[in-house]
Amino acid sequence: MTRGDLASVLEIADRIHPDLPEPPDVFANRLALWPAGALVLDGDRTLLGYAIGHPIRFPNLPALGCVLDRLCEDSDTFYVHDVALMPEARGRSRAGEALNMLHLGAPHLKRTCLVAVYGTTVFWARYGFEATANAVPREKLASYGDDATLMVREW
Ligand SMILES: CC(C)(COP(=O)(O)OP(=O)(O)OC[C@H]1O[C@@H](n2cnc3c(N)ncnc32)[C@H](O)[C@@H]1OP(=O)(O)O)[C@@H](O)C(=O)NCCC(=O)NCCS
Repeated sequence: MTRGDLASVLEIADRIHPDLPEPPDVFANRLALWPAGALVLDGDRTLLGYAIGHPIRFPNLPALGCVLDRLCEDSDTFYVHDVALMPEARGRSRAGEALNMLHLGAPHLKRTCLVAVYGTTVFWARYGFEATANAVPREKLASYGDDATLMVREW
């Protein structure tokens, strides 16, 4: 992802996450703080998806929509903030490719976590993620929606 991609990334986010909107600054913020964790999927003429993530100190997840001043210096976990693909790009294991590419940007981090939404816990389990109860207070996950589930994968 480059800054020039941000307008298209925001369009995709608006279409895929109408119920979990984030301020536009969040995308630019994550790109600036951890460029290796900001990926796009190129189509012929438009972008077909994006993935965003960055290191955190587990279990200190940012609240949804939160602009960060900086990343934690003693991070121990990679946090996958979002993977969003347009419908025409789905079903070809692109999400798995994104996970692998995000890991390449921080190979020293042997744990990845994410907040599963839209009932995707079974989907993420295919990629080795397990639901983790009680690591994060329920109210902290609330910004991600009612069905938000923290999941963790060890590499
Ligand atoms: C979820 C998503 C990232 C999966 O990416 P992908 O590259 O298409 O995934 P894969 O090709 O590895 O797997 C496709 C499978 O996931 C399943 N899947 C997709 N979304 C799902 C959901 N919400 N719940 C359960 N299964 C789901 C598909 O039905 C398909 O199943 P099949 O293999 O039995 O046909 C993509 O569908 C997407 O961007 N969805 C909208 C945004 C979203 O939900 N992001 C994740 C939020 S935590």
